[in-house]
Amino acid sequence: MSTYADSKPLTVPGLAQARAEGRKLAMLTCYDAGFARTLDANGVDLILIGDSLGMVVQGHDSTLPVTVADMVYHTSCVARVLRRALLVADLPFGADATAERALEASLQLLKAGAQMVKLEGAGFKLDIIRFLVERDIPVCAHLGLTPQSVLTLGGFRVQGRGDAGQLVLQQARQVAEAGASLLVLECMPSPLGAQITAESPIPTIGIGAGGQCDGQVLVLHDMLGLDSGHRRPKFVKDFLAEGGSVAAAVQAYVAAVRDGSFPDAEHAYAS
Ligand code: KIV
Repeated sequence: MSTYADSKPLTVPGLAQARAEGRKLAMLTCYDAGFARTLDANGVDLILIGDSLGMVVQGHDSTLPVTVADMVYHTSCVARVLRRALLVADLPFGADATAERALEASLQLLKAGAQMVKLEGAGFKLDIIRFLVERDIPVCAHLGLTPQSVLTLGGFRVQGRGDAGQLVLQQARQVAEAGASLLVLECMPSPLGAQITAESPIPTIGIGAGGQCDGQVLVLHDMLGLDSGHRRPKFVKDFLAEGGSVAAAVQAYVAAVRDGSFPDAEHAYAS
């Protein structure tokens, strides 16, 4: 029996509490009930229904084709079996193009069992974060490499190097001011991830943003060593290679996030 079976469910206010107590948060993506049970029973704090499902489940080259209906379906599959982890669902590409669309999509995701929605970027999205938060919809922001911007970015690349780091720093302040409760930082130099985390009033979750973030997230398929059909990013570690079973791999990931041994320098970007 897992040691987590009787532990209390994580709540949105519990995120700030974890940070205040210096407890690192372990997050993984998940898309179905079978894996959700294993993640939940083995200590994962947050589960993300990522629109990465477009790439790792549906086989697309990007996250752009994912629909709100896809997200609602996978959210409901996972929500049905969760006991403890906090469930976050992505607003897919275009679903946050206007405040009204974002509200409609968020309501569907919350009714399917999500407890928080995640949206990418700042700029005009700041008003949308405010609009959702005022309507009691908890929001996770996502900065740095924002995969829904792949066409404008010209590929999946490290962001925030050199002077560009100031922009990400400013965006991090803005999303917190707009009311986001959590901030995902993707693919940026570790010193920038550390500086944002030090200055941020809300917890940060890194993916390729160094070990100083308040928590870490990986795509489930990546941490289980599955071939995504794409070049494996530097920040990905295959925990199944050492673990021997999916449950053991998840336990190893959670332990490494909690004790700060993941990510190490091998899985991070220098300046
Ligand atoms: O969609 C996703 O899986 C994500 C993570 C990469 C953070 O947004």
